[in-house]
Amino acid sequence: MDNRAILDLLQVKNQDHIIHHVDRLPPNKKSKFFQNCNDLDLDLVFRLHNECCASKTTLSLRGNIKVPRIVSLPVRENERKSHYESKLVGESLISNGKVAVLIVAGGQGVRLGHNRPKGTFPVSPIMKKTLFQLLSEQVRALSFRYNAKIPLLIMTSVENHDDTVLFFDTHNFFGLDQNSVYFFQQGMLPTITPEGKLLLKDETSLFVNPDGHGGSLSALNKSGLLDMLMEQGFSELFYCQIDNPLVRIADPVFLGYHSQANSQCSTKVVRRQRIDEKVGVYVSLDGKDAILEYSDFGGKHMEALDDNGEILYWAGNTAIHIMNLSFVKTLNTHGFALPYHCANKNVEILDSKGTRKNVDAWKFETFVFDAIPFAERTCCMEVDRSEEFSPVKNKSGPDSPSTAHESMVKLHKRWLHDAGIIVPHERLVEISPLFSLDREELISKLKGTIMQVESDLYLA
Ligand code: UD1
Repeated sequence: MDNRAILDLLQVKNQDHIIHHVDRLPPNKKSKFFQNCNDLDLDLVFRLHNECCASKTTLSLRGNIKVPRIVSLPVRENERKSHYESKLVGESLISNGKVAVLIVAGGQGVRLGHNRPKGTFPVSPIMKKTLFQLLSEQVRALSFRYNAKIPLLIMTSVENHDDTVLFFDTHNFFGLDQNSVYFFQQGMLPTITPEGKLLLKDETSLFVNPDGHGGSLSALNKSGLLDMLMEQGFSELFYCQIDNPLVRIADPVFLGYHSQANSQCSTKVVRRQRIDEKVGVYVSLDGKDAILEYSDFGGKHMEALDDNGEILYWAGNTAIHIMNLSFVKTLNTHGFALPYHCANKNVEILDSKGTRKNVDAWKFETFVFDAIPFAERTCCMEVDRSEEFSPVKNKSGPDSPSTAHESMVKLHKRWLHDAGIIVPHERLVEISPLFSLDREELISKLKGTIMQVESDLYLA
């Protein structure tokens, strides 16, 4: 859009306060303002504002909600056999160079009191490894185990991109081949008042917000990385958030189920712990699998119990997915398919008198799990929370560094126990992904080892 077209649009959309502000700017700042506007989809934000106004008063969850089909944890012999067979399928996908890994890491660790990229937060119990290090080491161990190239794609945001790249550089990419690590930035969208007025962040830029983790699927396409992966023969994308240190990157069992179901978009779920746990819920909505965010699901459904008094819609979203790359491409074929969600936000802006003040505004973002209903074939698999899900979101209390720390220690103590090594209650343990990616690997490595653990134990 050229400068004239931007001004015309602002005029048509009654943004006189912005036009007056721009008029008063000196030429160098004026051109900077237009430059900053150029990457923003202003048309989209005005359209979303209209849609949001139209639906705000009538927002309610409609549709026929049911419990979906989910691959359960293996208990019986035939289920174990099926898991084992899926694992073999998944392993061959990795070995044949079909799997790439995407980590969404556009956020800062502000809620953790860590005003840097969330991935730079130190989280492991003994070595204090960061989330980036733990996840990168898994990718490295997998590449080594399967002798395969596994590209690691990291989605950043304008806010944390440079810091993230520098962090990897400073840490020598945690031993990964830096040519197979790709950073790309998610998009930004202007924030708007409920009355439809754009806001100024500073003299030369509008107030904007990241376009949500769903934006990863559009930015992947726009950046050219999606085409690159497909041209190189990759077909599946393992997706996860940076905030879960227990995530099993490119879990072969999950890949196997996904592939055997010919699924386009697969999800791992855990049993919801409490009716008010802040997780999305995996359901069948009008015959299609979907995830509904806890805030949208509504009390009646969130609290519904089955005949045994257990939570009826029990499948909590771990934000771990596998997507077929051709499917991701189709989501981008006629514009970007995912719907936008509107959320209220209090933001600090520059007002027309040049003073800073706080106002209520709306931000728009897309959620990656909204891709699920677009898929013709899906797959959902239950996993054990204590083995795979312990996100770090809050400074203290649930989903905090201390709960993640405790989950990691408990899990690794269990693996060691199964390998015949008892760790005293008061001792900490940490097992590097480079030593063992899972229980089976640890048992095979430590077979016959007799170990007396008298201090904290780090295996690397
Ligand atoms: C999210 C899911 C929830 C799920 C839970 C599991 C949503 C709306 N909800 O909740 O269903 O049960 O995780 O832990 O997603 N991110 C970006 N860019 C963005 C926004 C987010 O990269 O624009 C990344 C962040 O780095 C973060 C992750 O996505 O790691 C999660 O985002 P967040 O908004 O914190 O979602 P949750 O409320 O944790």
